Amino acid sequence: MRTEKYDCKPTLTDQQVLDFCRYGFIILEGVVNNTVNQRVSKFLETRNSEEPVDILEEEWFVDAVIKNPESAGAVRSLLGKEFLLPRVISSHQVHCPAPAQPWHPDAGSIFTHRLDCLQVFYYPLGATKEMGPTELLPGSHLTRARNAFLGRLKSMKSAVLTNSPPGSIVITVYSILHRRTASSATGVRNNLKYTYWRTSDPQRDWAIDPKFNFSWSKNVFPPLSVDAANMFAWLCGENWKHMGGPSWPSFTAGIYDHDQIGLPENLRRFSEE
Ligand SMILES: [Fe+2]
Repeated sequence: MRTEKYDCKPTLTDQQVLDFCRYGFIILEGVVNNTVNQRVSKFLETRNSEEPVDILEEEWFVDAVIKNPESAGAVRSLLGKEFLLPRVISSHQVHCPAPAQPWHPDAGSIFTHRLDCLQVFYYPLGATKEMGPTELLPGSHLTRARNAFLGRLKSMKSAVLTNSPPGSIVITVYSILHRRTASSATGVRNNLKYTYWRTSDPQRDWAIDPKFNFSWSKNVFPPLSVDAANMFAWLCGENWKHMGGPSWPSFTAGIYDHDQIGLPENLRRFSEE
């Protein structure tokens, strides 16, 4: 099997790409049709493997899931043109009921403003709260201090459950803190996990709005941190350095009719003259 490059229409807006940098994930609910969801579940019943890679040879699966227009469109927005399709796929099947996992980053996680790969998981039959969906900690993909408190945590108020209907796909920054939550249901919860890779230089070529106002962000949690802003500027192909203090991306109470100091050059609405 050769590694295939793929290109398609980017679907994410400026706001969605900015939010992805801030939160470290996006949930696409029910984007795969139910015929395929059922077929995937049946396929997995016949395999007792943690890595059922032969499903990547099935054209119906690749077309409906790996090249799913909404999911691949989001991947195209974040990884640019000609991204590499997954060659490995993991089955994180759970026989419910099962206990929660501890919070963890996956092995090989690094802190970087670069976005060279995307971790994706797909719930063919969905994941209700009772089926123990993965829980994510928004913004933790860039939180360097997290390891100091990780071992002592049992729950985090700001965590987000990825409970979602059949055919949902969740796209994350690899280094995000996550865990499988406890399940109380009976039966099987399927979760297929795979990775896409960047091959092209970053540029702002998703579904952009030339008039989008990047200045004067509001105080929302998690904030658009300097690290998240750095990731966004890098995705835009900008050579950006934080000026410190209340320069971009610091939040403000008001919205003004001029650009915020320190905003990357090509994100400005007004020229500097
Ligand atoms: Fe994990």
